[in-house]
Amino acid sequence: MTTAHGIADRLKGTEKNICLVSVEFGKLATENKALNLGQGFPDFKPPQHVIDEMVSAVTGDNHLMSQYTRSFGHPRLVDVLSNLYSPMIGHKIDPNHEVTISVGAYGVLFCTVQGLINPGDEVIIIEPFFDCYEPMTKVAGGVPRFVPLRSTKTDGPASSADFKLDKDELAKAFNSKTKAIFINNPNNPCGKVFQREELEMIAELCMKHDVLCISDEVYEWLIYEPNKHIKIAELKPKRDKLAKLLADNGMKPIVPEGGYFMLADISKFIYQMMKLAAIPPSAFYSKDHKNLGENFVRFCFIKKDETLDKAAEIFNNWNKK
Ligand SMILES: Cc1ncc(COP(=O)(O)O)c(C=O)c1O
Repeated sequence: MTTAHGIADRLKGTEKNICLVSVEFGKLATENKALNLGQGFPDFKPPQHVIDEMVSAVTGDNHLMSQYTRSFGHPRLVDVLSNLYSPMIGHKIDPNHEVTISVGAYGVLFCTVQGLINPGDEVIIIEPFFDCYEPMTKVAGGVPRFVPLRSTKTDGPASSADFKLDKDELAKAFNSKTKAIFINNPNNPCGKVFQREELEMIAELCMKHDVLCISDEVYEWLIYEPNKHIKIAELKPKRDKLAKLLADNGMKPIVPEGGYFMLADISKFIYQMMKLAAIPPSAFYSKDHKNLGENFVRFCFIKKDETLDKAAEIFNNWNKK
């Protein structure tokens, strides 16, 4: 019997994305008292000055701080962002017309897709992709077209730089119905930082076919040497520590150039989910390309050193068995 309480028709088929995988694996991790290196959250507090400013905004004398602000973004905030990004992209960004503040990247991705995609529009999604691009496209009535990054090494990737876009494969995905392409740079989950030539190739195709590029750059400040714009340099030792730990324990880590996730090839490793939680990246591939990710799991290394040390201890205990 149908019920009025069911999910709306236009949302059917979008229920299963990584949020559910994360919820499921988070639950599994809790039930098994596993060390959670799967989900992408830090296990330490934000910097004290950020906490102090937030507390003072809430407890200070300016009652307007608890009221509505300008809907498109607080004037001081949009000004700061315009001043930060204008020199980076080489032209003046109008803070009042070209900057929008949203509740997280999810919020702005949702609004972007709802605001731009018509039913039947095709949207190219580069795989592996951040979970929400596919359901957001479908909810807007768009049709996802997937183009995978492919490993250029015959013995499997060792660095996220080994994942490349095939120019012909990408070009073939563009047609008269294409409205937009999603790129995620640095990429979650593989950590690839797109090279200038790759971005130029995408830009050229976008201009040729009059296609919008939705560029999700949430990890733009987390880029490791020798790539550019290193802003959070202290993360690199964490990345290297986890990569070494995985390699020492029979996995083959794909060393990311940016972001804070790391894929590891577990095909030669008997994987036990009991005490160490990670995320299988099937959720980052379309149905037809899931085989490209089936050997991997995704670990998150934005964790305290003690947490990574505990992971080492778990591996040591397994190895002793
Ligand atoms: C590539 C990417 N885009 C967007 C988001 C969502 O960001 P937010 O938490 O700001 O909504 C994430 C979070 O993991 C992400 O990895």
